[in-house]
Amino acid sequence: MRKKIVAGNWKMNLTLAQGEQLINDILATGLKLTEGQEVVICTPFPYLTKAKALLKNYQGFYVGAQNCHSEKAGAYTGEVAAEMLKSIDVDYVILGHSERREYFQESNAMLAKKVDQALASGLKPIFCCGEPLEIRQAETQNAYVAKQLEESLYHLTEEQLKDVVIAYEPIWAIGTGLTASAAQAQDMHAFIRSQIAAKYGREAALRISILYGGSAKPGNAEELFACPDVDGGLIGGASLVAADFTAIVSKLG
Ligand code: 13P
Repeated sequence: MRKKIVAGNWKMNLTLAQGEQLINDILATGLKLTEGQEVVICTPFPYLTKAKALLKNYQGFYVGAQNCHSEKAGAYTGEVAAEMLKSIDVDYVILGHSERREYFQESNAMLAKKVDQALASGLKPIFCCGEPLEIRQAETQNAYVAKQLEESLYHLTEEQLKDVVIAYEPIWAIGTGLTASAAQAQDMHAFIRSQIAAKYGREAALRISILYGGSAKPGNAEELFACPDVDGGLIGGASLVAADFTAIVSKLG
């Protein structure tokens, strides 16, 4: 069966000492993952090595970056390549987060190249998709998300897709306290899975993990994770508080 995953996206928060404390606090809760469950901690670049060292001996705990560059290497001052992340044992990389799309002009075409770099280096992309409020209000969110998937993922082979995780993050729910209802999340996740089935077949669709992100909290995680097509969460704000994050992970069931 497909993996259940809770990934914490720290975004641009915490010092190294604070991040170390947070990971130690999470581990100190004695949180146990069952077969097929994973926790991914996505820290800022400078903390990845430390995070990996702290989590190395814990079954099911992985480390993720929040971005990588679309080229393999070269004169791109200030940027980080997928291969560099792999060389420090990073497992996952978030790609296409709405904040990257909005503030750093990341297009679907550019993200297709980032996905390629990640996969070529042996990183697993957590590919984010999701619509802005005006698209939801116009009820055209399915077409919007379908285009994101098509333009950034559908050049992949079925074999490559096995290493991809999808995160549905409606932009209107990110950091706003306004969560998608369980029904809204389930509808979109089922739609995404049906799109994957149409392109890659039923087996590939049943295998791919689709995470929900956007104001997920201990109080709503259980209902969201109970939806048949919601395979976990990509957590922003609540991933910065050990008790909240572990409470969310415990709702994976
Ligand atoms: P919040 O959980 O803070 O709404 O953020 C969600 C998110 O953007 C995770 O990537």
